[in-house]
Amino acid sequence: MDTKSQKILEDSSVANNPSRSGRPSREEEKASLARYDSAALELFQADLAQAHIRGQWQNEVLRKSGNAGVWSDGSLAPKSGGQPFLWQWRLIKGFLEQSCLAVPESYTSRRSLMFNNPELARGTTNTINMGVQMIRPGEMAWAHRHSISALRFVISGDPNIFTVVDGVRCAMETGDLILTPQWRWHDHYNQTANPAIWLDVLDGPVMGAFNQVVFESYGERQQPILNYESDVAEDGRVLRFRFQDVVAALAAMPQEAVSAADGFVYEYRDPVTAQAPLPTLGCRMLRLAAGFSGENCRRSTSEIYHVVRGHGRAIIGDRVLEWGPGDCFALPNWSWRSIQNASSEEDALLFAAHDRPLIDMLGLYREARG
Ligand SMILES: [Fe+2]
Repeated sequence: MDTKSQKILEDSSVANNPSRSGRPSREEEKASLARYDSAALELFQADLAQAHIRGQWQNEVLRKSGNAGVWSDGSLAPKSGGQPFLWQWRLIKGFLEQSCLAVPESYTSRRSLMFNNPELARGTTNTINMGVQMIRPGEMAWAHRHSISALRFVISGDPNIFTVVDGVRCAMETGDLILTPQWRWHDHYNQTANPAIWLDVLDGPVMGAFNQVVFESYGERQQPILNYESDVAEDGRVLRFRFQDVVAALAAMPQEAVSAADGFVYEYRDPVTAQAPLPTLGCRMLRLAAGFSGENCRRSTSEIYHVVRGHGRAIIGDRVLEWGPGDCFALPNWSWRSIQNASSEEDALLFAAHDRPLIDMLGLYREARG
């Protein structure tokens, strides 16, 4: 059955009979295009849409509307996902306390508050979820597992606050990083007199994009603790990175190790495999020396930041995010950014998680300096 647009196209080819070689001349092509006007094109595209087909030229029109630039090698640049955004600790802390009153432990597996990027349907960035969680004295978060990989950066910890990962008891002292890789049972405990607080970072948007979000309850509130002695899983995987080791490594870095964009950088890596902590997420701790002003740069990766100590600003695109202790912010992929320590006397420490393992695996990593 002929569509309306096919009829117009046929009329147009009859009127522009090809030259003797069988191939239309440039003038004939132009004349044909002039006849095939925008109204006809719209009709044609409507016919395509009805058949669940889309012409690639329709995407090119989007590109021309200004959501992409050009790489230095001439290829097209990616679009940033979401916007730069900061969640203030003052606000976060208040909501956490409120959540402890509003949401009893028995009501939920996790009393976690997730940060949604204002420009995204889900996620703190296009690939990462960040949130915070509080567990009151004596409470626990019951055992479960999921296909989403997660890590915890401890904001307010203690040796008697801990996570059990596949039977391994990992103490959560302030500043420690605890991994709960995909499909490992995990439950959290607070056996102290003070609230436990940590940052949750997950690869939820990636798992969601793959339609691979799977969740299972353990069936009982807690799993047995099999290993109190080490922070290493049965398969040799390190599950806990201690803050004191990270701080010591940063302090020992020679001046020439400083990065113009990031200051001194500790990249968390598994000590045996040298791999990033999770297949989808890497982690870094940045030490910005007093007065440090980072070079403007942009990268393919999206990142989340949590301020461990210090005050400063992150200039991301046309936004200036002023940060202080406890604040969290989102850095969308391929956004120009400069990070600065506002103090001329004290160092600042920023914990960051990024999607570089995925970006590298896909061969997409690039960076530019500005
Ligand atoms: Fe979980």
